[in-house]
Amino acid sequence: MIINNLKLEGKSSEDIANLIYEELKKIDTTKNNVLITIPENYKEVSNHLDKFNFEGFVKTSILEDKDDKNITIDILGKENFVIAIDGPSASGKSTVAKEIAKILDISYLDTGAMYRAFTYYLLKENISLTEEEIKKVIGNINIDIEKDSVILNGEDISKKIRGDEVTKNVSKVSAISIVREVLVDSQRNISKGKSIVLDGRDIGTVVFPNAKYKFFITATAEERAMRRFKDEKSSLNKSYEEILEDLKARDVLDSNREISPLRQAEDAHLIDSTEMTLREVVEKIINIIRGIDV
Ligand code: CDP
Repeated sequence: MIINNLKLEGKSSEDIANLIYEELKKIDTTKNNVLITIPENYKEVSNHLDKFNFEGFVKTSILEDKDDKNITIDILGKENFVIAIDGPSASGKSTVAKEIAKILDISYLDTGAMYRAFTYYLLKENISLTEEEIKKVIGNINIDIEKDSVILNGEDISKKIRGDEVTKNVSKVSAISIVREVLVDSQRNISKGKSIVLDGRDIGTVVFPNAKYKFFITATAEERAMRRFKDEKSSLNKSYEEILEDLKARDVLDSNREISPLRQAEDAHLIDSTEMTLREVVEKIINIIRGIDV
């Protein structure tokens, strides 16, 4: 359903919100999830919408889409759904996945953070990175993901898992079958009974082969290395060249391991983000979900 620019012109944001409200009354929001897409130039409308209390969910989002002067109301259905976002290191998938989750007001799980947390534990406890040794300690490892924090046995290790040692070893650990078994199981449990975005390497192929929406985000290794280099959060004291080398090494390991290698699911939408901003990637994904860009 589209409320077009003609209807919106000259109206206050409150009046526009009321217009949307009239449209929403025609939809049974107890039976349907609704995604309202509001272009950047009408963003104040979003605040006014918050005061309307619907029995069901009403999702709002702001898109910058310059050409789109219309407000659209899409019915997404009520059932829970999974969005799988896979791709190589530093392709931007985590940032994109978080933003998508925010727009759709659904959960988000960073599966890479789980592999990193597992790796952190093994390194800290000096456990050899072999299936046999890991089996002995697996019962001692409790990983919780709470919002943006990664908790290992009660300790917040969100920053520590981004360190160099973990980054160097994580691909080796994630190639070990017992590690994948435990973490994939946990990812499925966490996702039960909710709509969720997961990002990783094997979400669309192994963890949720029946995910409703699948995306594979790539970019050239050089572009990805540059993004990681500029990313302050990575706090790695490394040159661009070193990051590029690390990243390429991890690409090779992740793509060639025997179990659940990194690869695009046949039914995933491929997004090459080399020349795209994060916002453009987010908008492309939202539009695919809305069914207007497939
Ligand atoms: O953020 P970055 O691209 O550096 O990687 P990450 O998403 O934090 O994942 C770290 C590592 O975990 C990857 O290089 C993979 O080896 C592994 N991983 C995996 O095997 N399967 C997943 N679903 C997610 C991550």
